[in-house]
Parts: sequence; C-alpha cells; structure tokens
Amino acid sequence: MVTGCVEKPRLVLALETSCDETAVAIVSEKGELLASEVSSQIDLHAQYGGVVPEVASRRHLTQLKPLIRTALSKASVAFEQIDAFAATTGPGLATSLMVGVSAAKAMAVSTQKPYLAVNHMEGHLLSPFFGVDVPPSIALVVSGGHTMLVEIEVPNSYRLLGQTVDDAAGEAFDKVGKLLGLPYPGGPQIDRLAATANPSRFEFPRSMLKSEDYNFSFSGLKTAVRYMLPKIVPEDVPDVCASFQEAVMDVLVSKTLRAASATGKKIVSVSGGVSCNRRLRARFTQECARQGLELFLADPKLCTDNAAMIGWVAMERIKAGLFSDLSADIDPNLRLQSA
Ligand code: KG4
Ligand code: ZN
Repeated sequence: MVTGCVEKPRLVLALETSCDETAVAIVSEKGELLASEVSSQIDLHAQYGGVVPEVASRRHLTQLKPLIRTALSKASVAFEQIDAFAATTGPGLATSLMVGVSAAKAMAVSTQKPYLAVNHMEGHLLSPFFGVDVPPSIALVVSGGHTMLVEIEVPNSYRLLGQTVDDAAGEAFDKVGKLLGLPYPGGPQIDRLAATANPSRFEFPRSMLKSEDYNFSFSGLKTAVRYMLPKIVPEDVPDVCASFQEAVMDVLVSKTLRAASATGKKIVSVSGGVSCNRRLRARFTQECARQGLELFLADPKLCTDNAAMIGWVAMERIKAGLFSDLSADIDPNLRLQSA
C-alpha cells in the first residue's frame, strides 16, 4: 500500500472479475451507488455444471469494455471525472482476476490516477454496511467459495474467528442441487423449492454445531443427502431441499450468535451469495430480534458478486489515505487481511 496519492477522490470506478460475473460499478465518496452493472455468465457455464476458468476469462474480456461504457452512461459521468480505479485482486480464478486488474491498472496509468487493489472477501464483508460507517460487529460471510465468521473491532481491522474446514455453504448448496438434478447453481433452486416444503421431514446432520470453535463443515451434510437419494421419489425433492437448508441455517445462526455473545458484540451482519437465501434472512431476522442484536443483511443486489462492494471498500481505503502500487499482483489465494 502507498499513501496519500490524491486529495479526496470523489468517484471510484470499480471492476469485479474474480469468477463468473463481470461487474462494473461507480461509487461516490458519500456512498452513493451511481451505477452497478453485472453481466452474469451462469447460462454459459450451466452446460458444464460449474465454472470453466478459460471460458470465464474470455467472456470477461469481451464484456468489460461495453459494461464500463454502460456504467458511465447510467451514472451520467464522463470517464475524465473518475478519480480512482479499483479491481478485485483475489481470491478467485487467476485468469479471471487478471482481466479486471489489468483493465483497472491500464485506466489508472492512462489517466495518471490512483489504483486500488481490493480483496473480494472484504467486499462481501463490508457490503451490509454500504454507505454507512462500519460498526464493531460479528460478520458472517457465506458465499460459493467461503464461509467465515469475522470479528470487526474497528473499520479495516478484522479477526478471523472461524471458517469452513471443507465445503463452503454455497458450494454445499450447489453440490446438493447437482445431486438432486437441479439446474446450476443449486443455491437459488433449493431456496425456491424449499419455500413451500417441509423442513422437518428428513433428518440431516448439523456438523460441528456443538464444537467449541467457530469452524464449519458441510461435506458430511452433502454426503447424507447423497445416501438419502436411493430412498426418495421425485416428489420428495422439495422436502429434501427444505430439510437440507434448515440444517445449514441451524449451524450458521447458532455459531454466529454464539460468536456475538462471546465477544460482547451487539451487531451482526451477513453477506455473500448465500445471504440471498430467504430462509437465511428470515432465521437471522427472527433470532437476532430474540437476542436483542441489531442485524445488517446485505441488500439482495449486493449479496452475489458485484463491483459495488469493491468500489465501497476502495472508497473506505481512499478515505484512510491508502492506495495500491501498480506493481501489486493478483493473488488467487488472497486471505482476508486488516489494512
Ligand atoms: O458470493 P457469490 O456470488 O460468489 C462467490 O464469491 O462465491 O456466491 C455464489 C453462491 C453460489 O454457491 C450460489 O448457489 C449461492 O451463492 N446462492 C444461494 C442463493 N443465491 C445464491 N444459496 C442459497 N440460496 C440462495 N437464494
Ligand atoms: Zn463472491
């Protein structure tokens, strides 16, 4: 990180290309989201049952320029008015990350404006607090690649309390969806089918529910669904979805609230793709109210991958006078770090 390149930038243009969404956003220093464009590649990868890295990066290359134009036009902002350029630098697929990072650096160099490298996980982490100051809190991030519980003491200072020891929550949703023959990605499909089904019909394990740590494990749950398959008929699928989903939520809610209680935090936040899940939102709303905790859920538009969350982290950095060096490389395995 280098410090103090420019005085108070007003507008950041942010790019997110860590996996299979190409996204561009323009964020103002007041926390206004002037544009947020997301071009999903789900249809492209659905035929393979998962994301194919080379296909993803080629699509980022063709999508990025038109998306930047659209974002500028929707925000009614001229390219020259952008004060800084940000991109997701990791974690993610190397060839996908390179596209966004190269584009952001090229724009920064050609305009002689600052560049900001942003951690994708920090984007998810702070997305429930878009446009507001980040309070001391317990944050659950549940995405396709990660499941982590983080203690936020002050902005830019994070302590990882626990994470998954095997599959991420979203990954478990997607794998179970595949086992049940549902279209990719399984998460939204399971959410939809479970909405009117019986969550107590099938007994599934709540792995590590009682363990003293804040880690998670979802691969045993996925295996339990696999063993269940020969015993069910197609009409049972919605109840399997609801029962599986409830097992995931029991663990997520219980560990998050226990972390809040143990650390004395009164604020809980939930973000990442799985936080779109309606049952998750209902369970956290209910349980936090019962425990007298304030809940920040990411806006549904900011749950799955987007560039707005990257722009907001960049803006927080700028306010703290922190900028990235142009030599900063991508890191597919980047961990969450305090600034
Ligand atoms: O945060 P995200 O867009 O990408 C990663 O950074 O991984 O999360 C994608 C994950 C996928 O696993 C997807 O199935 C899951 O979020 N997801 C959901 C729902 N919507 C997306 N899982 C459960 N219920 C949903 N409604
Ligand atoms: Zn993500």
